[in-house]
Amino acid sequence: MIEIINLVKSFGDKKITRGLNLTIKDNDFLAIIGRSGEGKSVLLKQIIGLIKPDLGKIIIDGQNISELDKKDLENIYKKCGYVFQFAALLDSLNILENVGITMLENNEPIENVKIKVTERIKSVGLEEDVLYKYPSELSGGMKKRVGLARTLMLSPKILIYDEPTTGLDPITARIIHELVKKTHENLNATTIVISHDIEIFKYANTVAMLYEGKIIYTGPTKDIWECDNPYIYQFIRGLASGPITNKAEDKLK
Ligand SMILES: Nc1ncnc2c1ncn2[C@@H]1O[C@H](COP(=O)(O)OP(=O)(O)O)[C@@H](O)[C@H]1O
Ligand SMILES: [Mg+2]
Repeated sequence: MIEIINLVKSFGDKKITRGLNLTIKDNDFLAIIGRSGEGKSVLLKQIIGLIKPDLGKIIIDGQNISELDKKDLENIYKKCGYVFQFAALLDSLNILENVGITMLENNEPIENVKIKVTERIKSVGLEEDVLYKYPSELSGGMKKRVGLARTLMLSPKILIYDEPTTGLDPITARIIHELVKKTHENLNATTIVISHDIEIFKYANTVAMLYEGKIIYTGPTKDIWECDNPYIYQFIRGLASGPITNKAEDKLK
């Protein structure tokens, strides 16, 4: 279980996370939604320890991560796989090297690396012939798959995706969502997907909405279409990038 308690983070005088509370149950598939610039990536980076919160606690499997030393923290984060917003592949390395990077850094024999990478590449629906290609030779959807394959090398129990479908056409986006769901089921993992793509509601079990630095709503995805929370209402009707209207503000009061 992941418990986030009263999390606060500012950059200079810009408050981003403003007393955020959220509990994520084991094996849940949670979608965190919110507009661009709302602080979704900043929240994820705090969960995975890339950004240190100013205040508050993040408790993963009973351990307050801000109290752990470097070694214990590394052990916690071995459980977490993070798939970056833009696949974040290294352009100068081929796919075999990108996916197998940790094994290669640990000087494992290339044959072993190749076997494991091939297995992972196939599990995300790619063929062996991509192994010796470079990221620039792949489509956006393929790069996302490679990013996921690299994360899966660590057999994580918590999988965190930042905007997995951003920049993809609707068909490729759907394929990626289905892959995220399949991976969730196969690994029996806890899955957290940050998104502004409401298609994610078809796949996630739980939805949490981030607004003004706080989680203002959580609930089962199946209830989302009947939900009368005004922010959710606006969001799912495609006004996510526009201003919150007075009507919506009034409804919340
Ligand atoms: N390392 C940083 N230093 C300063 N400001 C940052 C940093 N990271 C993010 N921000 C700011 O925090 C806000 C939220 O960013 P982000 O979490 O990336 O939004 P999104 O919800 O689109 O993922 C933005 O205004 C961004 O400019
Ligand atoms: Mg982001």
